[in-house]
Amino acid sequence: MDRQLSLECVRVTEAAALASAQWVGRGRSDEADDAATRMMRSMFASVPIQGTVVIGEGEMDEAPMLAIGESVGSGEGSEADVAVDPVEGTELVAKGLNGALSVIAIADRGQLLHAPDMYMRKLACGPRLRGHLHLDDPLEWTVRKTATVLGRDVSELTVSILDRERHAAEIAALRRAGVRLKLLEAGDVAGALATAFSESGVDLYVGSGGAPEGVLAAAALRCMGGEMQARLMPAGEDEWNRCLAMGVHPPDRLLHTEDLCGRGDVIFAATGITPGDVLQGVRNTSGNYAETHSLVLRSKTGTLRFVRTLHAMDPCSLQPDAVIPEVASASADRRSDVI
Ligand code: FBP
Repeated sequence: MDRQLSLECVRVTEAAALASAQWVGRGRSDEADDAATRMMRSMFASVPIQGTVVIGEGEMDEAPMLAIGESVGSGEGSEADVAVDPVEGTELVAKGLNGALSVIAIADRGQLLHAPDMYMRKLACGPRLRGHLHLDDPLEWTVRKTATVLGRDVSELTVSILDRERHAAEIAALRRAGVRLKLLEAGDVAGALATAFSESGVDLYVGSGGAPEGVLAAAALRCMGGEMQARLMPAGEDEWNRCLAMGVHPPDRLLHTEDLCGRGDVIFAATGITPGDVLQGVRNTSGNYAETHSLVLRSKTGTLRFVRTLHAMDPCSLQPDAVIPEVASASADRRSDVI
């Protein structure tokens, strides 16, 4: 894939984050998701790929936009698999809580797992732990191994996990082991991503979450040399058969990072909607600009770019729908602070 696509991907997540940020704290998750999805789809029109959505907003018959199987991109350039989550953490946006992202990954055609919309057990870690852990080990062992590899005491480790009733046993085991827990209200892409950044203070991400989010997180971790191990959790015969239809044989097999996002070229981009461990959220700044913080990663080079952008907003209004895609994209050229 053309390396220029990295910046194109950031434009897409920036615009989606700006659109949904208008809804932060307004208690309306559907509107936040809808605004981001519309914006993301319109921004994709200028991305030079022949893309097919493999992880999207739902099946063709249930999602009006960015549905699985939909063609995206300008129709020029290489064929690509596209995974999108216009708002990862819709409830976080609705409640004005930290950790919501707008996320995409694009990969050479055929590389991304067509993950069905079901739960997946996950273990995510950064590069230092890659190859040392196993999803099926008891969590007490996993944290002990983690402590040994990192040369720290178990009590100095932080593990993040979604704060859910279904995780009661895992949370109890981790408490007994003596680690610090970061209990997430939602948003396990951000939870997994954080493990690759020592500044986040998060060493491991464990627990079950959405399978589509698992593919997106795996794409990010692969670009940074981290690791995601996962196992789909089909509930009942229908979901079991859906896994088979999507090419996962047997459906409950252990999936490694490369099973989730392939071995070819992958580009991952995320923009913060609300503040998080790795990225700032969208901020309105003086002079009718909105500031976004994004991360863009590419597996081929392993480059991490943090992109800080000031977007010119409609000076009359910072209300929903005020973001103009063309302005947002042009501003990325003129004012991006690419580190
Ligand atoms: P949405 O943005 O679609 O609401 O997903 C948020 C999320 O927290 C994901 O990050 C996670 O994978 C999944 O929901 C967990 O599902 P559940 O809330 O059912 O535990």
